[in-house]
Amino acid sequence: MKVRKAIFPVAGLGTRFLPATKSSPKEMLPLIDKPLVQYVVEEAVAAGIEQIIFVTGRTKRSIEDHFDSSPELESHLEEKGKDKTLQAVRDIADMVDIFYVRQKKALGLGHAILCARDFIGNEPFAVLLGDDIIDGSVPCLRQLLDLYEHYRGSVLALEQVPMEQISSYGCVAVNRITDRIMEITDMVEKPKREEAPSDMAIIGRYVLTPAIFQILEKQEPGRGGEIQLTDAIKRLSADEAVYGCLFEGVRHDCGDKLGFLKATVDLALKRDEFKQEFGDYLREKMCCL
Ligand code: UTP
Repeated sequence: MKVRKAIFPVAGLGTRFLPATKSSPKEMLPLIDKPLVQYVVEEAVAAGIEQIIFVTGRTKRSIEDHFDSSPELESHLEEKGKDKTLQAVRDIADMVDIFYVRQKKALGLGHAILCARDFIGNEPFAVLLGDDIIDGSVPCLRQLLDLYEHYRGSVLALEQVPMEQISSYGCVAVNRITDRIMEITDMVEKPKREEAPSDMAIIGRYVLTPAIFQILEKQEPGRGGEIQLTDAIKRLSADEAVYGCLFEGVRHDCGDKLGFLKATVDLALKRDEFKQEFGDYLREKMCCL
């Protein structure tokens, strides 16, 4: 069955970005001129996703407004003859069918996914986390979907990270099938460095089979007192094969302040309008270090 639907869990509290995220969502922080969440929605659409459900919480209403039409703004831009900007604003609202459900309490990523169960039904689906911005020639989710279509099992995006950072991630043990493709044999959420089974971390893109919902329904809180998606996928892997994909592309961890700064610099240096002047500015700054 084709993967048509994607879940965007955006109900987390975004504590690492406080106070910026006190009353507005982390997912709306702009990387240059686009909110984080728009980059990720564009990736999902480019990968062939037809319907998206946001799992939202309090303070997340501006995400809904962003993907809605905006008649006053549109007529203002039309009057001023700003056709290019007008088109960009209209394109956002027309990009894809979007639905919303509320997670009333931030009980964990696993619980957030369970909140979208009725919308997904008995179909395989994708999950995309708005923190991870992935820049690559083939959308990361498309790479995962290609594997799903081949193996017909759940697929997780993996990245090799320095061992001193592994305790910030879900970590996997694997049997390698090729350099980039593996079958996952074990998973641990945020392990201590000495207990990590590998240097491979789970990144915020997943394709999951609907069997995950029965497991999530009974999943007890795990690390941090949260209902962890990683724990549920580990149990899923006892019943059916779960695969990992070392994707091609550059990932920016925009849920973290340093990662966000690096992403801003990287993307700015790729934009024709900034490349020269911003590059000169950075070189000047480097000389003073
Ligand atoms: P994070 O662990 O990054 O948490 O959640 P967070 O709240 O977004 O940010 P920090 O760590 O406090 O700064 C990973 C993803 O899971 C979603 C988040 O919105 C984020 O996309 N999430 C997490 C939920 O939707 N609900 C939850 O209960 C927890």
